[in-house]
Amino acid sequence: MSACPPTLTVRVAHVALLNPMVRLLVLRAADGAPLPGFDAGAHLRIRVALEGGRHDWRHYSLIDVAHGAQAAPAEYRIAVRLETGGRGGSRFMHALQEGDALVIEPPRNEFALSAHAGCAVLVAGGIGVTPLASMAAACRAQGRPVRMVYAGRSRALMALLPELQALLGDALRVHADDEAGGHAGAPLDVDALLDGCAPGDQLYVCGPAPLLDAVLAGARSRAWAPERVRFERFAAAPPQQGDQSFELVLAQSGLRCTVAADQSILDCLIGHGCDPLFDCRRGECGVCAVPVLEGEVDHRDHVLSASEKAAGNVIQICISRAKGQRLVLDL
Ligand code: FES
Repeated sequence: MSACPPTLTVRVAHVALLNPMVRLLVLRAADGAPLPGFDAGAHLRIRVALEGGRHDWRHYSLIDVAHGAQAAPAEYRIAVRLETGGRGGSRFMHALQEGDALVIEPPRNEFALSAHAGCAVLVAGGIGVTPLASMAAACRAQGRPVRMVYAGRSRALMALLPELQALLGDALRVHADDEAGGHAGAPLDVDALLDGCAPGDQLYVCGPAPLLDAVLAGARSRAWAPERVRFERFAAAPPQQGDQSFELVLAQSGLRCTVAADQSILDCLIGHGCDPLFDCRRGECGVCAVPVLEGEVDHRDHVLSASEKAAGNVIQICISRAKGQRLVLDL
């Protein structure tokens, strides 16, 4: 995958608040032409402007609760949750007005429905509902068995709830934390959810890290085949407290540079004119793997096995970092 994928320019055709925290944006091609098609689970990468004049990219899943997919859509629909403590991408998206232009990459899908005979069990947490809403519509349109568990803090903050109730009826189970577990509320019982799955069920999970991690840990502890749970995280993992800058050396090219505390190795390399392979930018696809020659790796990806991580011979440069002050890669 090139470091410079094609882009297109769209305009914000319509904005609406789905709830106090979530804004719906309808995007149309700046020249009015049909847009590239997409399947359920696909996302757009959108270029956002951050404070200080920096630009970055954010992923937003495409929403189509009628069909789940479109071959040549007239518009794209996305929903953006405002993260007031975030790095500024959602604030930028929430400040957009109708008519504003945006640079995007065409839809890509790393979270597609797979071919399986059993029921698609869609597990949504918060704004993670967006790709799963399109999957639910696609399953309905294709006559495939589907059910959804949609968890959120309260019904008032759960976007697309009326649309999903109309689409899925009894196949939708809503878990609102503030309605469960008495006065203090309670999160979704992931163990009960997993224990309630039939052997042929295929899980698709999207939501905040605690939900995703609980489902993945529960699946592992039940010795489920890894491919039984497909998942998508909202975005690249944010910098962690204590992240430090470190020196990066490329053994083949001789490049030496400093990876800033809030920067990925991938972005550092692109910034220095390199053209590394990458795809998901979330540590999920494995495309950006690079051999490590020196230095200890702080592995943060979801593709390497525990033994591969322990061996420390390879790093996913989109997300993992150096534990020490220096890392030498075979590039
Ligand atoms: S780009 Fe997908 S794991 Fe790094």
